[in-house]
Amino acid sequence: MIKVGVLGSGSMGSGIAQVAATAGHDVVLVDNNPDALNNAKSKLTKIMNRLVEKGRIDEQTAADIQGRISYETEMDAFASCGLVIEAIIEDLGIKKTVFAKMEEAVPADCIIASNTSSLSISAIGSALNNPERFVGIHFFNPAPLMKLVEIIPALQTTDAYLNTAKETIDSWGKLTVLAKDTPGFIVNRIARPFYSEALRMYDEGVADFATIDWALTEIAGFRMGPFTLMDYIGNDINYKVTETVYTSFFYDGRFMPSFTQKRLADSGYYGRKAGKGFFDYSEGAEIPAPNKDMQLGQMIADRVVVMLINLAADALFMNVANETDIDLAMTKGVNYPKGLLAWANEIGIQNCVDQMDALYDEYREERYRCCPLLRRMAKNGQTFFN
Ligand SMILES: NC(=O)c1ccc[n+]([C@@H]2O[C@H](COP(=O)([O-])OP(=O)(O)OC[C@H]3O[C@@H](n4cnc5c(N)ncnc54)[C@H](O)[C@@H]3O)[C@@H](O)[C@H]2O)c1
Repeated sequence: MIKVGVLGSGSMGSGIAQVAATAGHDVVLVDNNPDALNNAKSKLTKIMNRLVEKGRIDEQTAADIQGRISYETEMDAFASCGLVIEAIIEDLGIKKTVFAKMEEAVPADCIIASNTSSLSISAIGSALNNPERFVGIHFFNPAPLMKLVEIIPALQTTDAYLNTAKETIDSWGKLTVLAKDTPGFIVNRIARPFYSEALRMYDEGVADFATIDWALTEIAGFRMGPFTLMDYIGNDINYKVTETVYTSFFYDGRFMPSFTQKRLADSGYYGRKAGKGFFDYSEGAEIPAPNKDMQLGQMIADRVVVMLINLAADALFMNVANETDIDLAMTKGVNYPKGLLAWANEIGIQNCVDQMDALYDEYREERYRCCPLLRRMAKNGQTFFN
C-alpha cells in the first residue's frame, strides 16, 4: 500500500489524512505551522474517541488509525510517498511555489494532487516539471463524512496517473466523479443559483429569508434553506466562492454575486460562527416565522429549481461531466433531494424551457438565458438519461 502525504493540516487536510489512514495507508501530515499540527492531532483524538464511544470502531482500530499518521513540518517527509494531496491556503501564487518545492521532495512517479475548490488545476500544474502526474482531487467538507470527491485532470495530466488517482480514492470508499478543469468544477458551478437566486428574490422583495428557506425545504425538499446554509458555510467563504466563479467565467451574468451577501461579509456578519448573518444566533434571539403562502412558496421553489436545472444542463452541454456524474455530484456532494437532470425529466424539459424563457422575457438579463441543450431537447422531445 502506498504511503500518502497530505500538505496542510487545517479543516480539509486533517480530514483527508483521517480518511487515508482509515483506509489503511501510512500517512504523513505536513504543515509549516506546528500549532496547526497539534490542533489536527488533538482533533483526531477527539473524533476517534467519539467513534469508539458510539461503537462505530473498536479501541484497537482507533489506535491503529492514529498510529498510522505522522506529523511533520518539512516536506522532506514526503520522500517515500506514492500520492501527496495539498490542502493549504487558496492562493495560486503560494500553491505554485509550494508545488515546485514539493516536486523536489517526492519520488519521480509520485502522484501530486491539489484539493483546491476554485483555482485552475492546469494553472497550478504549470509550476511542476512533470505536470503529467498532477491532478485535482476535490474533497467536500467534512472530508471523512462527505462521500463525493471530484477528480479533475489538468490539461497536462496523463490517463495513467488520472486512473491511478481515481482508483485510489475509490478504494477509500469515496464516490468519485470526473470533472473538466472549469471554474467551480461540477458542484460549486451548478449550485450557485441555490444561493444567488434566493438572494435575488430577497433583494426584489419577493419574500424574506425565513419564507424563502421554508419554500426550499418544505416545498422543494432541500435539507437546509439557502439562507440557513449560507450562514452555516459562512458568508465570507460562500461570497468568495461566488465571486471567484463569476470572475473566472469572464463575468457571465448567470453567476453574478449579490450585494446583500457582500455587505454581510464586509460587515463581519459571517453567519453562525459570528453569531449573526442572515439570522441572529445570539441567545434568546427570536426565530423569524415564514409566510406559509403556498402559492408564493411554490413560485420561489420553482424559480430556484429551474435555475439549478438550467446550470446542470449547461454543465452537460459544455462537457464538464457526464449525466450520471452531474446528478451524483449534486446528490452526494451537497445532498440535493434529487439529481437535477432527473428532476428536469420529472417536471418536463419543455416546462423548464418555458420557465426560463418567462424569466428572461421579464428581466432581459443574461442571468436567465435558457441553456441551448434544454431548448434542443424540448424541440426533439428528448429526456436525460436516454
Ligand atoms: N474548507 C472547505 O470547506 C473546503 C472544501 C473543499 C476544498 N477546500 C480547499 O482546501 C484547501 C484548504 O482549505 P482549508 O479550509 O482546510 O484551510 P485551512 O485554513 O483550514 O488550513 C490550511 C492549512 O495549511 C497550512 N499552510 C498554509 N501554507 C502552508 C505551507 N506553505 N506549507 C505547509 N502548510 C501550510 C496552514 O497552516 C493551515 O493549517 C483550500 O485550497 C480550499 O480551497 C476547502
